[in-house]
Amino acid sequence: MIEPRPVRDSVTEYSEFALPNDANPLGHILGGKVMHLVDIAGAMAAMRHARRPVVTASIDQMTFLHPVHIGQLVILRSSVNRAFRTSMEVGVKVFMEDLTTGAQKHTSSAYVTFVAVDKDGRPAELGPVIPETGDEKRRYEEAGRRRQYRLEQRDRARGGTRAGPLSGA
Ligand SMILES: CC(C)(COP(=O)(O)OP(=O)(O)OC[C@H]1O[C@@H](n2cnc3c(N)ncnc32)[C@H](O)[C@@H]1OP(=O)(O)O)[C@@H](O)C(=O)NCCC(=O)NCCS
Repeated sequence: MIEPRPVRDSVTEYSEFALPNDANPLGHILGGKVMHLVDIAGAMAAMRHARRPVVTASIDQMTFLHPVHIGQLVILRSSVNRAFRTSMEVGVKVFMEDLTTGAQKHTSSAYVTFVAVDKDGRPAELGPVIPETGDEKRRYEEAGRRRQYRLEQRDRARGGTRAGPLSGA
């Protein structure tokens, strides 16, 4: 069996200053930019667990609770919730910090599934994640339920059900 690692080994914090290039006309950072940062912060945590290259298999639904304005800091905190055979669920929480006051706000959260791959891009086996704290154990359990839903969505995307995207109102 591949060596298990505690969740804490994958904990990552990644920050980026919100710049005008990434803003909409209101001066708010674009949702797509935040999603890009979520992917990067998630991949860093996933690679800390896998110690291998990883690819993004899916990103769960995201809700943007508050805008991030130009000049504020986007802070992303990520860690691996659970590893399955070759895939792992990473939780990413996004905050904004007003650097002039130090105030922080939680702006969104996402669950991202990464697959560890070998040098030929084929899925590679992972060691398990060991949840230690109460929150880690809860996320570990919940990740199992979310996986089920995701795999159903993947099968739909592959055309595994009769209902297609244009099949009805
Ligand atoms: C993700 C990818 C490696 C899966 O490869 P595959 O040939 O379908 O392999 P498998 O069916 O064996 O799946 C491998 C693992 O991925 C998981 N997986 C595949 N699609 C998934 C999805 N949409 N959501 C969650 N998990 C998924 C499987 O459950 C399996 O996990 P497990 O081994 O822990 O049980 C492949 O589809 C791929 O390379 N996709 C493109 C990735 C990429 O380029 N991402 C960047 C955006 S373009």
